[in-house]
Amino acid sequence: MKKSIYVLLSFALVFIMAGCGNHKAEGAQESASMQPEAQSEQAADNGEESSEIESQEASEPVSEPEQETDMEQKTLVVYFSATGTTESLAEYAAEILNADIYEIVPENPYTEADLAYYTNGRADQEQNDLNARPAISGSVENMEEYSTIVLGYPIWHGQAPRIISTFLESYDFSGKTILPFCTSHSSGIGSSADNLHELCPDSVKWLEGRRFEAGTTKEAMENWLEGAILK
Ligand SMILES: Cc1cc2nc3c(=O)[nH]c(=O)nc-3n(C[C@H](O)[C@H](O)[C@H](O)COP(=O)(O)O)c2cc1C
Repeated sequence: MKKSIYVLLSFALVFIMAGCGNHKAEGAQESASMQPEAQSEQAADNGEESSEIESQEASEPVSEPEQETDMEQKTLVVYFSATGTTESLAEYAAEILNADIYEIVPENPYTEADLAYYTNGRADQEQNDLNARPAISGSVENMEEYSTIVLGYPIWHGQAPRIISTFLESYDFSGKTILPFCTSHSSGIGSSADNLHELCPDSVKWLEGRRFEAGTTKEAMENWLEGAILK
């Protein structure tokens, strides 16, 4: 009698355990059915093991890659302007692009006498010296956050002021996009942009720049930016 009770109890135990096992499987199927449709189909094709992998993947925060993408798409408008012409256009560009803006401020400000060209003044001397690197006051703390730099400068003796070279040599622009623009009395952007490009690492995507005259409208700047980087 005792023996048959043991046998009956053993059978009961086996049934209970089998029941628990089924519940676990049902639970796994439920969590798989919470996945997007395509993932569920793939899980069904691959069997139970894939479902577990899919479930683990689903528990990872989905917002991380999006944040990363936002960071990578930030634009910084950088400019140097001795008499305000380039500054107005840089401000237009920042407004149009909804971008941050940074002014390159010389540690030693340029006086009117410094800027009087063809007088062998300070600006003339700097432009005649390929290696002149006027010091910049302050810096961009978070340069790594920006993927695109719009770089504005006035033309000085057909070239960018040497302080732009100081700026380009102060940061690692690897992998970034740089779009230059300049203002001038009459000269074009000419070789100024090519010479600045040469100061950058090979991995910089250097876009074709443009020269603007004083009094250029915001609409003109917008039209250019649309073709150059907003396309
Ligand atoms: C030292 C110096 C050199 C310049 N050389 C040229 C030049 O070669 N060609 C030109 O068209 N304008 C030249 N300019 C005029 C400036 O490029 C022009 O006024 C520019 O728009 C000024 O920009 P900013 O007001 O942002 O400084 C020169 C100005 C300075 C101060």
